[in-house]
Amino acid sequence: MKQWITNQDGLDKLTMVTDAPVPEGLGEGEVLVKVNRVALNYRDTEVAMGLYKHHKYVPSGEAGLVPCSDICGTVVKVSSSPGSEDKLEGLREGDRVMATFNQTHVRGQIVAADMASGLGLPLAGCLAEYRAFPAAGLVRVPDYLSDDEAACLPIAAVTAWMSINSFQPLGQPMAGRDKVVLLLGTGGVAVSGLQIARALGLTTIITSSSDAKLERARTMGADHTINYKTTPAWHEKVLEITGGRGADVVFETGGAQTLAKSFECVAFGGLISCIGYLSGKEDAPAPGQPRINTNVLALKRNVTLKGMLNGSRERFEEMVRCVYNGDAGIRPVVDRVFAFEEAKEAFGYLFQGAFREGGYSGVLRGEGC
Ligand SMILES: NC(=O)c1ccc[n+]([C@@H]2O[C@H](COP(=O)([O-])OP(=O)(O)OC[C@H]3O[C@@H](n4cnc5c(N)ncnc54)[C@H](OP(=O)(O)O)[C@@H]3O)[C@@H](O)[C@H]2O)c1
Repeated sequence: MKQWITNQDGLDKLTMVTDAPVPEGLGEGEVLVKVNRVALNYRDTEVAMGLYKHHKYVPSGEAGLVPCSDICGTVVKVSSSPGSEDKLEGLREGDRVMATFNQTHVRGQIVAADMASGLGLPLAGCLAEYRAFPAAGLVRVPDYLSDDEAACLPIAAVTAWMSINSFQPLGQPMAGRDKVVLLLGTGGVAVSGLQIARALGLTTIITSSSDAKLERARTMGADHTINYKTTPAWHEKVLEITGGRGADVVFETGGAQTLAKSFECVAFGGLISCIGYLSGKEDAPAPGQPRINTNVLALKRNVTLKGMLNGSRERFEEMVRCVYNGDAGIRPVVDRVFAFEEAKEAFGYLFQGAFREGGYSGVLRGEGC
């Protein structure tokens, strides 16, 4: 079979091999999945460039690593080894499935050991024609979603779901127009967050560097939009929009250049979900300007600052039941589709920011592989 591999030494060094063996000898509770679609995430570009090194609990991965985590595939074989029946989660040949990001994170809070079960680092990933999975690491695809759309759910949508609902009891997602969700930028997680927040009936504010993208966000139902380039004090605008109250949930995807402002516009008792670092992993030095300590910032508004690490399979299934059930009508937005053989171009396109110009996620089709 064909698969792509990386030595984590550069996007231009990604290599497609054509003679990789199709996994054989399924273990107890495992199924073989034909990969129909692979969705790319920012993390995949970092892994391929050797830049995904900030997680203490993620081992460094082997040479010749298969990258990528997010798929929609079809079960083509189930394990017949003794004792499997109880562990197959009812999966049958022909079922369409998505893979969970941290394969061992099935329910509850993530633990450090789960970090060693991430697809596409440290585990072999999914940019291949076939991959074997434990059934416990898979979630059924809702019928109404296409393969392209379903492939976008595991990282972007689950992270967005958890960014809103990590402190909500299972089965009781956040609700009410009085709850305000602030989404920073129009990347994959933020746009998924916009769709999910809207489906839950929450009020949304989204920022972007592009008026065209804000217009698109409005057509998707965003209640309020702010251009963070032309309105650098966007945190003040958030306060103005919310009558001084601030946002109940902040999707902190920006990091270095945004977190201080997020602290200024989060509601009293609100939640800052720390998702990413698109504006940098290290705070820029600010000579002459006192940097207020994080304790003080958090205490000022009784803020909860929560590191987000995707979500469990149980929460993934909760999300599908609640909002990806066909009734809410959410369809993940796919920006551009590439052929499997064009993976190198697709990674480059994502990294160059072309996705960011066009917004939203990208999908690699497995067709014709
Ligand atoms: N913790 C987790 O579980 C998890 C899961 C997924 C992703 N992440 C991380 O979260 C971040 C976002 O991921 P993604 O997949 O959504 O990325 P993405 O699709 O590549 O997001 C790109 C968008 O980020 C926005 N952006 C860039 N710089 C910004 C800034 N200074 N202020 C506000 N927005 C800015 C831009 O929006 P505009 O073009 O509209 O300006 C851009 O379109 C990444 O750092 C990723 O590694 C973490």
